[in-house]
Amino acid sequence: MNNFKYRNPTKILFGKGQIENLSTEIPANSKVLMLYGGGSIMKNGIYEQVIKALSGYEVVEFGGIPANPEYSVLLDALKVIKDEKITYLLAVGGGSVIDGTKFLSAAALYEGETPWDLLTNKKPVTEGMPFATVLTLPATGSEMNSGSVITRAETKEKLAFGGPGLFPIFSVLDPEVIQSIPQRQLANGIADAFTHVLEQYMTYPIGAKLQDRFAESIIQTLVEVAPAIMKDPSDYEAASNFMWSCTLALNGLIQQGVPGDWAVHSMGHELTALYGIDHARTLAILAGNHYRYNFETKKEKLAQYAERVWNITEGTLEEKAHAGINKTDEFFKSLGIDIKLSDYTEDYSETGSIVAKRFTERGWGGLGEHKSLTPTDAQKIIEMSY
Ligand code: NZQ
Ligand code: ZN
Repeated sequence: MNNFKYRNPTKILFGKGQIENLSTEIPANSKVLMLYGGGSIMKNGIYEQVIKALSGYEVVEFGGIPANPEYSVLLDALKVIKDEKITYLLAVGGGSVIDGTKFLSAAALYEGETPWDLLTNKKPVTEGMPFATVLTLPATGSEMNSGSVITRAETKEKLAFGGPGLFPIFSVLDPEVIQSIPQRQLANGIADAFTHVLEQYMTYPIGAKLQDRFAESIIQTLVEVAPAIMKDPSDYEAASNFMWSCTLALNGLIQQGVPGDWAVHSMGHELTALYGIDHARTLAILAGNHYRYNFETKKEKLAQYAERVWNITEGTLEEKAHAGINKTDEFFKSLGIDIKLSDYTEDYSETGSIVAKRFTERGWGGLGEHKSLTPTDAQKIIEMSY
């Protein structure tokens, strides 16, 4: 096991009715900017619950943060923060609203030339304006981590940043919010969390037995509850297991002391930036082929995953490993997710080389757990996924 330092300061308020506790967590006298997305919270009662809970505060609202939070929209929100002298941010939404809020938390205190630097200067953010979240869509883990992914339509870029200053102070996780989530987004949430675990697990054995079993148990739980969630998102038991699994998949716990890959996400973000494909679907397009392409360096973990998660006990190590990859593809398909790029766009013949060129220009010469996946390798994996 590798050395690690681990600290996660985000407080979690989990369960039914927890939204009403906002006022016990947000300091009195805060001037709160409540941030939300395209309006789902107006239809499912979450808006009313939050507004009621914030009745003792001075509150300004900013809605309209789109899926894949857009830089130009966030700049409008930044102006509100400055004009209104906001002191506390509250994100009410899924990963996009939360990530957008993290950007604003950092940008509010940023003194450099342009806040886009935050996405490109590779400096971990150590300080941000205090913020909290009310999670409405389990998927990204953003509610309990310090990362954020921001999109800039003007340049078709989607870049990640973060740092120890960008953990939410607290997050409200009420599984009842899941009831109103459409099938497409439920499938996305399951697939995203599932792939988060894979990115931190499907590398090489390092003797971290507990981290392996944490990872496998999160995947097993997602696989177990997926049919129930897709059938009836108001099934509270399934919803609560789904929600907590998504949070634990990317709150830092399972990544301590183990290598991480994250190449599927790096490539996937490009597919969203270029074609607007939902984040989770880009991962489903690429994951299986990433593991096929990097089979030799990942086969031990692939076989362990096949055995422990999918009960594949027959065959050689290689056969089990291949079966594990196929099970992964089948799982995505069982959620109704198409796993070929050509299912989403007709404009794919140059995608591999476009992404390779972008990676080269950014100096991303070596991705993956061995820092050895070159832009040409990424091109080949994407081409396998056409
Ligand atoms: O905008 P509204 O109207 O609220 O609708 C949203 C949106 O259209 C809807 N929705 C959310 N909660 C709902 C609901 N509809 C009905 N009922 C509810 N309770 O769902 C749609 C998608 O929302 P979004 O926030 O975009 O989805 P998700 O949570 O999957 O977030 C995706 C974003 O997170 C980034 C992705 O790249 C993408 O930009 N990620 C962030 C990560 C992180 N910070 O750690 C890691 C991830 O790997 C990921 O990259
Ligand atoms: Zn993801």
